[in-house]
Amino acid sequence: MFAVGTKNKWPRRYYIDLFSGSGLAINRETGEEADGSPLIALSHPFTDFVFIEADPESLEALKVRVEPLRNGRHVSFILGDANNVLPDIVKSVRQQGSLSLVFADAFNIQLKMRTVQWFANHFRADLLLHFPYGTYLQRVLTLPNLGEETLGELDAFFGGTEWHKLRSQRPNPHAYLELYENKLHELGYTTGDNYPRMANSRNATLYYLVLASKDELALKFWKSVNEIEPGGQRTLF
Ligand SMILES: C[S@@+](CC[C@H](N)C(=O)[O-])C[C@H]1O[C@@H](n2cnc3c(N)ncnc32)[C@H](O)[C@@H]1O
Repeated sequence: MFAVGTKNKWPRRYYIDLFSGSGLAINRETGEEADGSPLIALSHPFTDFVFIEADPESLEALKVRVEPLRNGRHVSFILGDANNVLPDIVKSVRQQGSLSLVFADAFNIQLKMRTVQWFANHFRADLLLHFPYGTYLQRVLTLPNLGEETLGELDAFFGGTEWHKLRSQRPNPHAYLELYENKLHELGYTTGDNYPRMANSRNATLYYLVLASKDELALKFWKSVNEIEPGGQRTLF
């Protein structure tokens, strides 16, 4: 929807994947392979792509998988921590006349709020963010003691220490999501009305997806896309 729906207004539409992976994903339950987010994005009419990945082997595998799908479009590959390569992203993106969709699908809390803030201040971009509740936060936030390192990482993820107060309450993903969203609002973003819950085949929550944008059109797309079931059918309500 983003790649097609913004075509008339924005001649250049960048897809920026901060945690690209190798291009292939494996379903841990069935062992089946599926296209990862970079290859899915390449099947849509974005004009330019920036793929960031910290693991050199995954990045090399991604380069090979991307090549046959480029169709002459410009692709940049950046090796490194997504939080530390912002100058390289700037070099890869021609900002004039461009709009970007930034997808952040980290394993858990690798995306720091200061990186999100940097996008808010320097980029015309919509952000699609993975909020790792079931895969990480639910387990870690209920531990009686957190080490200094984990506390620091969580502070960096949430962009402050307000989340500490929620730890004394009964674990509730919505309270943490609300806090995260409030931070995004402070940065000038509006977030989508709903955050879809991604679950495994036993219906255990893996993560939530959060859309942050400064543009009404993106929020409209988000609403429509959330009315579509994963199988492609529209829900009734
Ligand atoms: C959940 S996977 C991404 C999967 C991908 N979106 C897909 O659909 O196949 C997360 C990826 O982020 C990479 N990664 C972990 N920490 C990173 C960081 N700080 N910066 C960039 N990449 C990182 C991992 O090596 C891994 O390949």
